[in-house]
Amino acid sequence: MIEPLKKPIRIDVLLSVDELEKRVRSLALEIAQSMPSDIMIVSLLRGSFVFTADLIRALHFSGVKPQVDFMTLASYGSGTKSSGKVQIIRDIVEDVRDRDILIVDDILESGNTLTFAKNLIKQRGAKNIKIAVMLEKPNKRKADIKADFVGFTIADKFVVGYGLDYANYYRELPFIATVDFS
Ligand code: IMP
Ligand code: MG
Repeated sequence: MIEPLKKPIRIDVLLSVDELEKRVRSLALEIAQSMPSDIMIVSLLRGSFVFTADLIRALHFSGVKPQVDFMTLASYGSGTKSSGKVQIIRDIVEDVRDRDILIVDDILESGNTLTFAKNLIKQRGAKNIKIAVMLEKPNKRKADIKADFVGFTIADKFVVGYGLDYANYYRELPFIATVDFS
């Protein structure tokens, strides 16, 4: 069941524009050091489009020449609770067979979305699969999955901005912020 939308009363900056920019640059370096330059990025929409756009430009300066594709998966309703079930809304177009794949997502929470995506890409014959997420909430994992590259580990609070939404709002915020509904 989709919970009724609550009106946020406070939005507080958790990670600034500057902090995000610096971390994306260092993540790109980490990725360049442990993956070949001809990777294919599978970006999980909608939340990861901002991170992906910044990451591929940072990867350019680290010598990586990725191909990029997008998959839209849904596991959330329009509120703040995961429904647990993952659905493909839009599939990738490219063939992942024998490729080095970097799955890019906004946040690793329960792990249901990334587990689903990783299994799917593995089944389709990818050679090697790594995962990059901008954020990770450590205590919420339901699936046994780890990200290879993590921007920031954050406390267990609902966040918006930098692509992350609440009811499809706030994606445009250039920083990451906590939302207080109380
Ligand atoms: P999962 O629970 O790891 O499957 O995460 C599924 C998706 O839930 C993420 O890709 C995000 O789109 C969304 N999500 C998880 N936590 C938050 C949050 O704090 N704010 C906004 N979206 C979130
Ligand atoms: Mg998402």
